[in-house]
Amino acid sequence: MDEQNRPIHTFQVCHVMEPNQNNWLRSGWIQRQAAQRVYVELRFTLRDCNSIPWVSGTCKETFNLFYLQTDEPLPAGTRFRPIDYAKVDTIAADESFTQTDLGDRVLRLNTEVREVGPVTQKGFYLAFQDVGACIALVSVKVFYKRCPSTLRNLAAFPDTVPHMDSSSLVEVRGACVENAEERDTPKLYCGADGDWLVPLGRCVCSIGHEEMDGYCRACKPGFFKAYAGNTKCSKCPSHSSSHDQAATICHCDKGFYRAIKDPSTMACTRPPSAPRNLVSLINDTALFLQWMPPSDTGGRKDVTYNILCQRCDGSDSESGVTQCEPCEPDLRFIPRALGLTGTSVAILDFAMHANYTFHVEAVNGVTGLGMAVRSLANVTVNTHQAGELPVGPALVGVVRKDWASQNSIALSWSEVEQPPSDIVDYEVKYYEKEQEQLSYSSTRTKTPSVVVTGLRPSTVYVFHVRARTTAGYTAYSPNFEFATAAEDPDIADQGQVLVVVTASVGGFSLLVILTLFLLITGRCQGYIKARMKSEEKRRTRFHSGHGIPFSGIKTYVDPDTYEDPTQAVEEFAKEIDPSYICIERVIGAGEFGEVCSGRLRIPGRMSIAVAIKTLKGGYMEQQRRDFLREASIMGQFNNPNIIRLEGVVTNSRPVMIVVEYMENGALDTFLRTRDGQFTVLQLVGMLHGIAVGMTYLSDMGYVHRDLAARNILVDENLVCKVSDFGMSRVLEDDTEAAYTATGGKIPIRWTAPEAIAYGKFSSASDVWSYGIVMWEVMSYGERPYWEMSNQDVILSIEEGYRLPAPMGCPVTLHQLMLHCWQKESSQRPRFNDVLSFLDKLIINPSSLLTLVNDVQSFPDSPEDMPDYPLFISIGDWLDSIKMSQYKNNFLAAGYTTLDSISTMSIDDIRRIGVCLIGHQRRIISSIQSLRLQLHHIQQSGFQV
Ligand code: ADE
Repeated sequence: MDEQNRPIHTFQVCHVMEPNQNNWLRSGWIQRQAAQRVYVELRFTLRDCNSIPWVSGTCKETFNLFYLQTDEPLPAGTRFRPIDYAKVDTIAADESFTQTDLGDRVLRLNTEVREVGPVTQKGFYLAFQDVGACIALVSVKVFYKRCPSTLRNLAAFPDTVPHMDSSSLVEVRGACVENAEERDTPKLYCGADGDWLVPLGRCVCSIGHEEMDGYCRACKPGFFKAYAGNTKCSKCPSHSSSHDQAATICHCDKGFYRAIKDPSTMACTRPPSAPRNLVSLINDTALFLQWMPPSDTGGRKDVTYNILCQRCDGSDSESGVTQCEPCEPDLRFIPRALGLTGTSVAILDFAMHANYTFHVEAVNGVTGLGMAVRSLANVTVNTHQAGELPVGPALVGVVRKDWASQNSIALSWSEVEQPPSDIVDYEVKYYEKEQEQLSYSSTRTKTPSVVVTGLRPSTVYVFHVRARTTAGYTAYSPNFEFATAAEDPDIADQGQVLVVVTASVGGFSLLVILTLFLLITGRCQGYIKARMKSEEKRRTRFHSGHGIPFSGIKTYVDPDTYEDPTQAVEEFAKEIDPSYICIERVIGAGEFGEVCSGRLRIPGRMSIAVAIKTLKGGYMEQQRRDFLREASIMGQFNNPNIIRLEGVVTNSRPVMIVVEYMENGALDTFLRTRDGQFTVLQLVGMLHGIAVGMTYLSDMGYVHRDLAARNILVDENLVCKVSDFGMSRVLEDDTEAAYTATGGKIPIRWTAPEAIAYGKFSSASDVWSYGIVMWEVMSYGERPYWEMSNQDVILSIEEGYRLPAPMGCPVTLHQLMLHCWQKESSQRPRFNDVLSFLDKLIINPSSLLTLVNDVQSFPDSPEDMPDYPLFISIGDWLDSIKMSQYKNNFLAAGYTTLDSISTMSIDDIRRIGVCLIGHQRRIISSIQSLRLQLHHIQQSGFQV
């Protein structure tokens, strides 16, 4: 019966009374199929031996899982030979199948999963060995993991089996979904757990299709999409329609057209209607045509006009039909005959006494498309109207203005003394100066004076006068310009008004211009000042009282001082073509997305190993900025002990930061996994590298704020490089960072007291952190202040406590640490002091020989530790630090209370038989931690 009391089939064995059990159960042949890594999930119940009386020697609580690979099923009748089978694991139960006091059995199903293999042959058998347990095997599920087929960025990715090596990724190329086309090659990486990682590249919907639910759907009738891309289908523009699905363009309605250069998004248009109110004017030398624009421009703004000319002088004598022919080619059109943008034209060199017919045609970009009739306006001009040729020189010399009102000007002129023939009258021609000669008026007078009326106020007119004699017209006088009076009747003196107006308008403009100028220049100055200030700020922000950057070295520029942070990225980081990057595996997860390793293959350069930080999709603009901020900081540095930025990918998705690859990863975990494996000189070498990097940063005026071993990366040659730049973001990202009372997020254990208390970060506070890093390095990645709470750490430091020397740490190094942890920031060494101190140590390593081995030395301890009655047992303590195997060593040597071990030295630890250096270190470190915590308990007034 199962847990719900339903009957189930199981394989059972329960020979718990008899010794030396060796019972086997074997599966049928299981085909491997596509699996690279095979998993087996076992569901079973197992009886607790304690619940069965009299079986203490024979009853077992485990069974064993084996497998055998073959390319084919074994022939029937093959003898079972346990020796052929490889062991997978011993399986124990998490929960046991026990008997209650009342004799009811409580069934507990256990589920265990194991990986089998690597399986490389075509199939395999599973086998279960019982060695005397009371087991019921309820089910065996054999499976492998796959990244399921998926759609991402409009590309389909097939069901994929992960790589055999769990840390390698399988690169899978996606195929664009139907009606989509590739932009950047779509790729995904299949991880060992069947998860898809790091989407790269994408497809976009083709023309006539738009994205919907991960697919490309056809545009509906009435909509169209002319370009491939991830835009939506657009509604057909005016006077056009699409009747079918997936339209790439909308067709124009009848009578409407699209010019070749018209975009598909523009409404369809039609030719314009004819020009309106065409009139002609003629004088002796010129013929003028004027018209008004068409009432319907056809929906376009590109209307122009063509003048077509015909001479229609004669008429067919028989039919009486007027005969027309093209005008003489030497007729001149000013400015031209075709493509006029204005609504007038002057025509010169026409023949006298001729009949001309002019057609003014309005055209636009779609004229001539389709069957539209031409949009013409016609006028016929008889050049008889033109004045005859002058019969003599001008008889009128000077024309004077006698007076002018708003609408009239009185003129007079002197007659010539001896006119060649009798003067019949005078013709006065005039036109608005502004209008040039395009339209003119004339008036006749028998006397040498005239009052010209009907004029516009404040307008300059051009006048010329000719005489008509009995022999014909004489030539015109020269041109004279006179203005009508201004409109304002109150103002008597027009000239003065003009001056006043000009002066005041000019003065006002001047004032406005001046003000604007001042404002602009003021603003400019303000801007320049602001720029200078921010420049100063950028350059001085990190120098407060410590470490003035020495001249000659480049100064750090804070990307936050850029109005547009993308500018900072462009300035300091190279853009990398994503096709040069080959992602190989995921090595971590950052705040913004996966961190991968891979190779950068820039054509013409050696391929190099790189780490690639990715920004996962769906980010906000601010996140993108924060992410890239680190690149614009890192890109400013060039030092062998600062992680090198190779470049960024910002023009395609995903956004990436590419940096040099550091084979040994973060320094803290690196040291933890190599406990005790380096010489002191090697450790000092690492510290030296970090000091080189930090000296460089402080010289540049950059304050790191999060210097810690976890933010140092180690390459294959043990070179340590400072990484993780970007302050606020880094601290967001840093799981060690905690919120302080003032709301800042700070990695308390690594941070100087003045930075915790009032945010005073400086190179001097970085020096404090450097001292902590020294301690982390010398203790092989121990956690500073062990498991003390942040609050206790702050209080201990305040009271004057400092971390004791880690086991095996040279005295000089611990002294340097203590120097870095001076309360007064100005008393701390600068990074270049630290560096020269380490230089000297490396040159003269004998100074490293004196080790601080005695854990009782608490150099800055304010008082000696009191005797505490400690109630935690030695056993519990050793269990908690996973050193249980030494319980007997401690007990045998007489150490029975924590009180007694708190005085132990490293020699004592060795003497009781702890031989492994790593174990000695863990025990010593824990004793140090206990002592510090005990001190705290006492300080906080607890009675223990
Ligand atoms: N993890 C984060 N950055 C890294 C790098 N540059 N090299 C190796 N591991 C990393």
